[in-house]
Amino acid sequence: MSKQEVILCENLESSLTHTLHKYSHDKCFILTDEQTHEFCMPQLKDFSVLKDAEEIIIGAGDVHKTLETLASVWLVLSEKGATRHSLLINLGGGMVTDLGGFAASTFKRGIAYINIPTTLLGMVDASVGGKTGINFNGLKNEIGVFSPAACVLLETEFLRSLDTHNFFSGYAEMLKHGLISTPEHLAELLAFDTEKIDYVALKSMVGRSVEVKEGIVEQDPLEHGIRKALNLGHTVGHAFESLALAENRPVLHGYAVAWGIVCELYLSYIKVGFPKDKMRQTIQFIKENYGGFAFNCKQYDQLYDLMKHDKKNTAGIINFTLLKDVGDISLNQTADKDTVFEMFDFYRECMGG
Ligand code: GLY
Repeated sequence: MSKQEVILCENLESSLTHTLHKYSHDKCFILTDEQTHEFCMPQLKDFSVLKDAEEIIIGAGDVHKTLETLASVWLVLSEKGATRHSLLINLGGGMVTDLGGFAASTFKRGIAYINIPTTLLGMVDASVGGKTGINFNGLKNEIGVFSPAACVLLETEFLRSLDTHNFFSGYAEMLKHGLISTPEHLAELLAFDTEKIDYVALKSMVGRSVEVKEGIVEQDPLEHGIRKALNLGHTVGHAFESLALAENRPVLHGYAVAWGIVCELYLSYIKVGFPKDKMRQTIQFIKENYGGFAFNCKQYDQLYDLMKHDKKNTAGIINFTLLKDVGDISLNQTADKDTVFEMFDFYRECMGG
């Protein structure tokens, strides 16, 4: 898999102009959703390099990450004469970059695409690393391919208009990158004043966060080994996300990941010796900024089953990425049912669920 270029923009217009000249193409398409069409596209509409670009607008949100939406994008590309040498720009959050990346990677066996993520989650996670896809048959990201963008342009100015919940949702993936990288990066994340955001400092932390992800993806693009480090917090997080959805109280992905990190740091502590002080410090930050996810002991079995059926597991064995210390990753760990239930007890005790 080719390495993708990631640019932390000083000026989006000049970075995009440079990028579009570098990746020669005949026609340019730009995919937005109803939100980014309204709030982000106006900032690009006067870029002379986009004057002939054709905008494709899709519905916003995960409910539109479907085969039907994908087909509607293929249809526009086809009807507007896209060729193998055309290029697609995805302007949006993870849903747009995942679906647009998949549409581009499959149209005429693959055309080049550029991601311009507009959310924090999109910048530090979804738009980087080549995972593309759609939901199918009630399952998230069930259909897709690994296919990296030619280039990812990070314009952190978009973050100034992000609402608090979406800010924290993306920040959870940054915390994960801190935990799997260095004590210094984790410390700056935990010390960041989330009530009075310094956007200049945030920009450099976003840059570092993406470097952590890129470094891992470069070593293992297809997730056979070390890329599983990026699943920290996600084994339990996905179960919380699914339970919340089933109970009609959906939560943002990053919130579920943050709560998943609480659980998986506890497992790291009891199983592979993660330091208690660093666990407590990280949990304190999560508790203060994310609140808790309420569930009771009658739901433990349901959560356990959801974890067993996660697509990352095989033969009903739950796979965890744990940490011996910050940056000291322990892949392919398992835990028996009693230990998982003990972990839920711990979570409820310290998060007040
Ligand atoms: N979101 C985790 C990964 O890209 O592997």
